[in-house]
Amino acid sequence: MRIIPVASGKGGVGKTTFCLNLALSISRYGRTVLIDLDPGTSSLRTFLDMPVKKDMYHFLKKNIPIDECITPLNNSLDPEGLFKKFFLIASPKNFVHDIVNFSDSIKARLIQGINSIRADYVIIDNKAGLDTNVMDFLPVTNTGILIFTPKMKAATVTAAEMVRASIFRICQTLLTQQRFNFSIYSSEDKSDNLKVITSIKERIDEAYENDGESFEGFLIKLNKKFKKNIIIRIIRQFIEDYRVYFILNQFDSVQESADKIIKPFVERIYASISSKISITNLGWLIEDREIKKSAEYGLPYLLMQHYRKKQEEMKSKSWYSELESSMGINKKKVKKDIDIHEIMDDEISRQLNLLNEMYTHGFSKDPLANLDFIVEGIKAIGLSSTQDLGMKRILTKQEILRKFYSE
Ligand SMILES: Nc1ncnc2c1ncn2[C@@H]1O[C@H](COP(=O)(O)OP(=O)(O)O)[C@@H](O)[C@H]1O
Ligand SMILES: [Mg+2]
Repeated sequence: MRIIPVASGKGGVGKTTFCLNLALSISRYGRTVLIDLDPGTSSLRTFLDMPVKKDMYHFLKKNIPIDECITPLNNSLDPEGLFKKFFLIASPKNFVHDIVNFSDSIKARLIQGINSIRADYVIIDNKAGLDTNVMDFLPVTNTGILIFTPKMKAATVTAAEMVRASIFRICQTLLTQQRFNFSIYSSEDKSDNLKVITSIKERIDEAYENDGESFEGFLIKLNKKFKKNIIIRIIRQFIEDYRVYFILNQFDSVQESADKIIKPFVERIYASISSKISITNLGWLIEDREIKKSAEYGLPYLLMQHYRKKQEEMKSKSWYSELESSMGINKKKVKKDIDIHEIMDDEISRQLNLLNEMYTHGFSKDPLANLDFIVEGIKAIGLSSTQDLGMKRILTKQEILRKFYSE
């Protein structure tokens, strides 16, 4: 199972639209459950106009097993059963306070429920922004998918902040007192460890004022003082393994996306956290009138298209393997501490090359092709030994500690 949370810095960037169509698209390759975790607006239900017998409310408040709260597509939406492997866990129809503002016990039940779902893919439509209700559903070593649009510049900045916050949140967990139970603390470096923990914690707390130096830069300095310290090593390894995937929605020009999204996003992450974080563009979705209309009809775009015309044979699939290397799926990670500006320029030009290549291959014109491209990418990453996307289960804090300290 792959749990892929989709997050955005701001609302209105097309997260629900994307989640729904991604889930439909990927369900052709395996059992897929789409979870609406944005219950305040319950927008997935308006995008998908069909009766739902049991939803998140029944699971969270009535103790009904999660399997019974999963709804298949209604016959009226999918009369030929083209999307038999697509399922939805809807959010409650009406406002239920502690489902909108998760209490700790509700959250724990939800995480346990999601982990127990039988599926090949679980796609989570998160709330927009940065609160803990979102953060707790983001993966530990590789993010899910971030989505933003050149139409809303502020969403890009917030998305970069989300990456930083999610990295710092895991670092905080790795620096908690509970770790004193772990064997490394009985070693002779005990007092060094304490000093290291205090300095990193202070640096994270003051991150807001530290715009000049990246977090990685700070760790390198700290490492010079406390040579071979295990905590610094673990935190640096965690950052090196961290992966960011993103989608551009309402994409309409390479140049516009480059200037408004890719440059500021990559620059911000590199400058404030580390140039070792790998950032991958999974593709885009163009702005399309039919997509807009589909929301008004309560009929997902992908269903609409499949029933309007039998989908033509995709021209050629060979484009994908050509693009794999430019997407960075086979890219080796840069381990040496080389000049950050050099890596940054490299990274930005790699991302731009990819966009240009996709553009010239003609995969920009049709949202169905856009979605196919994204799904092929997700599948390829799933098969790759060096890349990863999503998570096998949502980890609790204890599990996060065990994962990092036992390795
Ligand atoms: N690629 C697109 N082309 C046209 N309209 C879009 C596209 N993506 C989203 N929209 C429209 O933008 C609005 C916001 O999308 P939505 O998915 O609800 O955003 P979010 O979940 O991020 O708040 C909706 O009216 C939707 O139909
Ligand atoms: Mg939404």
